[in-house]
Amino acid sequence: MMALIVMSSYGNSLRNFSLSDYAGRTLQAACRALLGVKSTLLLAVVLTAFAAFTLTAPYSAAQRVELSVDASKSGAKIDRNIFGQFAEHLGHGVYEGIWVGPDSKIPNTRGIRNDVVAALKAIKVPNVRWPGGCFADEYHWRNGIGSPRVVTLNPNWGGVIDPNTFGTHEFMDFIDQIGSQAYVSVNVGSGTPKEAADWLEYMTTAQPTTLEKERVANGHSAPYKIAYLGLGNESWDCGGNMTPDYYLSQMKIYTRFVRNFNPAQQDKQQMLKIAVGPGGDGPRWTEWTETIMKAYQQHTWSWDINGLSLHSYTVVHGFPPSYASVGFGETEYAQVLKSTLDMDGLIANHSAIMDKYDAAKKVALIVDEWGGWYAPLPGSNPGFLVQQNSLRDAILAALNLNIFARHADRVRGANIAQMINVLQAMILTDKEKMILTPTYYVYKMYVPFQDATFVPVKFDAGSYRHGDVTLPRVDAIAAKDTNGKLWLEITNLDPNQAVEVEASLDGINAQSAVGETLTALQVDSVNTFDAPNTVEPKTISAKIQGGKLSLKLEPKSVTVVSVVP
Ligand code: AHR
Repeated sequence: MMALIVMSSYGNSLRNFSLSDYAGRTLQAACRALLGVKSTLLLAVVLTAFAAFTLTAPYSAAQRVELSVDASKSGAKIDRNIFGQFAEHLGHGVYEGIWVGPDSKIPNTRGIRNDVVAALKAIKVPNVRWPGGCFADEYHWRNGIGSPRVVTLNPNWGGVIDPNTFGTHEFMDFIDQIGSQAYVSVNVGSGTPKEAADWLEYMTTAQPTTLEKERVANGHSAPYKIAYLGLGNESWDCGGNMTPDYYLSQMKIYTRFVRNFNPAQQDKQQMLKIAVGPGGDGPRWTEWTETIMKAYQQHTWSWDINGLSLHSYTVVHGFPPSYASVGFGETEYAQVLKSTLDMDGLIANHSAIMDKYDAAKKVALIVDEWGGWYAPLPGSNPGFLVQQNSLRDAILAALNLNIFARHADRVRGANIAQMINVLQAMILTDKEKMILTPTYYVYKMYVPFQDATFVPVKFDAGSYRHGDVTLPRVDAIAAKDTNGKLWLEITNLDPNQAVEVEASLDGINAQSAVGETLTALQVDSVNTFDAPNTVEPKTISAKIQGGKLSLKLEPKSVTVVSVVP
């Protein structure tokens, strides 16, 4: 009888049911109150048996979704820089996450931990944004060079001490070790154009100036390359509470005087200057984008920008974030994914403004802070923004990367916040231990999409409903990599039902397909230091017959397949 009650209340979510679910726990508590201890024990046995059955039984009623891919058609290049990372001096993002110092027992190369470097190399990080964030507008680069280092405070993030042992040279060494590029943000909020100009001269000149000699004396004779230069951070808020017009006048001065002198970056590989852009949707942000882009349209030889940033975190019900990063159920899963899909409209709206003033799309939209932001883990320093990273975050990441790919003509860079131990991280560390998060695995699976050419996919996404939330059941993108191989990514958002995909593949003589899928038992499944392999990609096989690819997607999964001609 109890089993019947359970079946009728969980009939739509059999695969997702387990005794650790909130609903299961609530039901147990209610029965305990009604029936007493003995009956509760009996109930637990029945529920356990039932859960074991539902977790191993074959899926019923998988949904069918048809996709059509025409590989002879192509769109914009998916700039590999949309897979960029962000490392701020915040909590254990830099100190412990990257930097342990040369004397640490944790294996390191010149103070930078080897396990983290190896993991990041595997996801081919195209660029790392540093030193912030809010931190950037209080960072004074001279504190982080030479010896001894000036010890400062980090008032934004817990008021802790920053020893400045990780400074310019250490960041550049780290970038070099992981095979990435530098995205350096200069201090517009509390610094001066002269301070930023000096920093750039120190880093990039090959001429024997005093600053060059100082860099050489500090151990680096060759000029450094800077791929991106951030002109402040959130100057409308933590970066100085500026109005759009005030920021514009400051930004013009910085673009005029903060120069990259690296001889290798004059004609080719020029440093891209990124102005602070909007932080959301609505009149305040429309005005910001309008102000910068209108000025850009009339810009003269003396100033220029190559990108406008956009910051948007997934925070249901706004700040301070209240949703937990672990130990949640389907309701929070559905709400977070609904909220994250707003990224599409946000990009579309700001792109439309940019199109008015820059039809040629010379200025890129760089989403250089995004990701899921939840309540700090209980017991952690709230200023350190520590959260777990679940299967939900993997799906959230895939949905956003797909949005960026669909806007590849304008979105040519993005930096998830943040790389290690902070917010939606790739990596979590605890002293000498390191784990890879579900989001890390999404980035690994998406490596073939770096610099691939977008291929349009048509599909009827269907819908998945939970409570008052309706979401597309599936999402998908396709692209041809630099060797011409076709790749498909398909996300099944539905946590309860599998999806049978049939994809017609035109413009390619498909013979077979191989791929990987990422899923787990529950929407809030995480990797922990005790169980680091709970959420990991598994190989899947797909069938190709008569030019059609068929594939079964697990509920709540991210799948990437390549088509072999
Ligand atoms: O990523 C954390 C913070 O979020 C950044 O420092 C800031 O730019 C944003 O508000």
